Amino acid sequence: MKNILVTGGAGFIGSNFIRYVIEETSFKGRVINYDKLTYAGNLNSVRDIDEKYGGKRYFFVKADICDSKKVSSTLQNFKIDTIVHFAAESHVDRSILGPEEFIKTNINGTFTLLKCALNFWKGAKGARFHHVSTDEVYGSLGPRGYFYETTPYDPRSPYSSSKASSDHLVRAYHHTYGLPVTISNCSNNYGPYQFPEKLIPLMILNALDGKPLPVYGDGKNVRDWLYVRDHCSAVWAILKKGRIGETYNIGGECEKKNIEIVKTVCSILEKESPSSENPSLKGKKYSDLITFVKDRPGHDRRYAINCDKIKEELGWKQSFDFNSALRKTIKWYLSNESWVKDIKDGSYRKWLSKNYSGR
Ligand code: NAD
Ligand code: TYD
Repeated sequence: MKNILVTGGAGFIGSNFIRYVIEETSFKGRVINYDKLTYAGNLNSVRDIDEKYGGKRYFFVKADICDSKKVSSTLQNFKIDTIVHFAAESHVDRSILGPEEFIKTNINGTFTLLKCALNFWKGAKGARFHHVSTDEVYGSLGPRGYFYETTPYDPRSPYSSSKASSDHLVRAYHHTYGLPVTISNCSNNYGPYQFPEKLIPLMILNALDGKPLPVYGDGKNVRDWLYVRDHCSAVWAILKKGRIGETYNIGGECEKKNIEIVKTVCSILEKESPSSENPSLKGKKYSDLITFVKDRPGHDRRYAINCDKIKEELGWKQSFDFNSALRKTIKWYLSNESWVKDIKDGSYRKWLSKNYSGR
């Protein structure tokens, strides 16, 4: 690996992955962040990396993965040998309200990347296309059992259907054309730089602003939570040691009901930033803000990953336990006020168009 193209590197997991690869691994080559900068793309999330390594080991290309000319020229210009494909529309609620962008980016965009990679690499040795996917492709579990790599696909939201479709295309490009691919299906991530539309950051920021904490349905839906850095190290392990053509499940082995998560966020906040000292709370406790709301349509009940394969085959394991990593995450949101403020007032987008020309 010399030149890694990271698609969606201005998003939550992609930005964490770029920082992990450049600062925490022995990789000495170049990382090219290819991102369209949708509402979820935020160059503030890689600003530190750009300041330290920009133009030397880190490069940014503002472009759409559906744009085959731009994808092809980027592969060529940077002599890309490895693609790590994070770029996607990623939020289930948005996919319910407007599925079109999900079909375009997640299906057509992945198809475009595959087509361009095949054409550019032409069977070159050492090349790799790693596709980052989700456990949601497997559907919804009852109270028992786990998702295995062999579990049949049963996606149920426009988001998970579009990701399932992209997974099938990636496999098809391997089986039909010999493209060297790997795939990972990961459970729910949390950590720094997550856009506050997803459960954990939304609850943290709403609580601090004294706003309602909306819990869908009865709050008993279960997700398997993984700290984002553990996801990054898992993807890195797959790039280094994963077998071509294989799929690896990645999970936190940490099942929690949504209501438990929201209550834990409230109790950590009480310690780190007490409601009694927060004028937005007007004498309330954070937990007083919990509000049960109408359920998400088609809300999957339970996700739980079996990740024995990556543990046994590649020697990966989680390094972070839930309570301390959640506390770390909450502290990050408390101490990164300007990142949060720029999102709240929308200036993270204005700043980009005015001052960032890209490299
Ligand atoms: P995110 O929404 O935070 O970031 C997505 C990034 O992709 C943004 O920077 C956005 O600008 C970019 N993007 C969107 N459309 C694009 C396009 N057409 N061309 C180029 N760039 C585009 O997402 P995330 O939470 O970081 O998720 C990253 C990947 O991981 C996704 O593929 C998602 O399906 C998968 N995943 C996420 C989770 C999770 O819990 N967040 C769990 C498992 C898998
Ligand atoms: P989310 O973070 O949107 O991830 P996903 O839907 O991909 O699992 O949601 C996590 C869980 O939290 C999911 O069961 C829906 C629930 N949820 C709420 O109860 N309230 C909210 O405001 C949000 C955003 C999610």
